[in-house]
Amino acid sequence: MDSILELQRVTAGYKSIKGFKSLIKRVEIVLRDISFTVEKGERVAIIGESGSGKTTILRVILGLLKPISGKVLIYGKDLYSLPSDQKLQILRRIGYVPQDPYRSLNPVLKIKYIVGEPLEAVGVEWRHIEERASEVLKIVGLPQSIINDTAEELSGGMRQRVLIARAIIAEPEILVLDEPTSALDVSIQAQIINLLNSIYNTFKVTMITVTHDLGVAQYLADRLIILKSGKIVEEGSVDEVLRNPKSEYTKSLITSYLQITGINSLNNIKIRG
Ligand SMILES: Nc1ncnc2c1ncn2[C@@H]1O[C@H](COP(=O)(O)OP(=O)(O)OP(=O)(O)O)[C@@H](O)[C@H]1O
Ligand SMILES: [Mg+2]
Repeated sequence: MDSILELQRVTAGYKSIKGFKSLIKRVEIVLRDISFTVEKGERVAIIGESGSGKTTILRVILGLLKPISGKVLIYGKDLYSLPSDQKLQILRRIGYVPQDPYRSLNPVLKIKYIVGEPLEAVGVEWRHIEERASEVLKIVGLPQSIINDTAEELSGGMRQRVLIARAIIAEPEILVLDEPTSALDVSIQAQIINLLNSIYNTFKVTMITVTHDLGVAQYLADRLIILKSGKIVEEGSVDEVLRNPKSEYTKSLITSYLQITGINSLNNIKIRG
């Protein structure tokens, strides 16, 4: 298999100004020495608790946050040393579903403009964009009639479908999802998981999901990367990690997952394979 994405010893963080009237800029380190590879066609989940750095990893992958040290290779190209036109070209091969469908959509913009934006950005003519927007609305299970509605009229599940439609409209090869179900009701969560897996199967994308939820990860990924306080503590196939967790943190994640779900043992969890 071909490596499509590789993080090599990435350390990253955010600049902050500390102290009384101080102009000294400090960097709060959020990710420490993160390395992993994603192969073409894989489904990978990055799991960690709130604040562990999941969204920050995605920002680094999406070209929005330059690492302090280390490299991000996409299709073998060093993302942050590319000239900006080449960087954009590479990033266009990635579709992105941001965290929280309630806060990531402009509530007053018509759905066709939200969904069509990635094509508009590359200069596609509007009549083609509208056609394609209708197509992707159908793929994500939304009625055509909402194309002229605004997002504020939509439920959480429908908003998430709109964000997924926008993420796939330009036929990305990599789909990156930030907590794709955590803002939604449980019954809707299952529908979104099914939709994402059907997109994965139909369009043969590579799928990278970040989540705090082991259950979601289990259904949306074949390989798990466990993150704690900005460091990778464990990595392996879903089967390996769930059946034979190596780190204490992973064990505690599994224990609390079993408690929340009321399942007695991992033997009762359906593991693909
Ligand atoms: N723009 C920012 N400026 C400064 N600090 C930030 C910024 N974004 C995130 N942080 C800090 O970086 C750390 C990691 O944040 P991040 O959003 O990556 O976590 P997360 O794992 O996605 O959490 P959640 O599950 O709550 O979404 C947190 O301590 C957060 O406060
Ligand atoms: Mg986050």
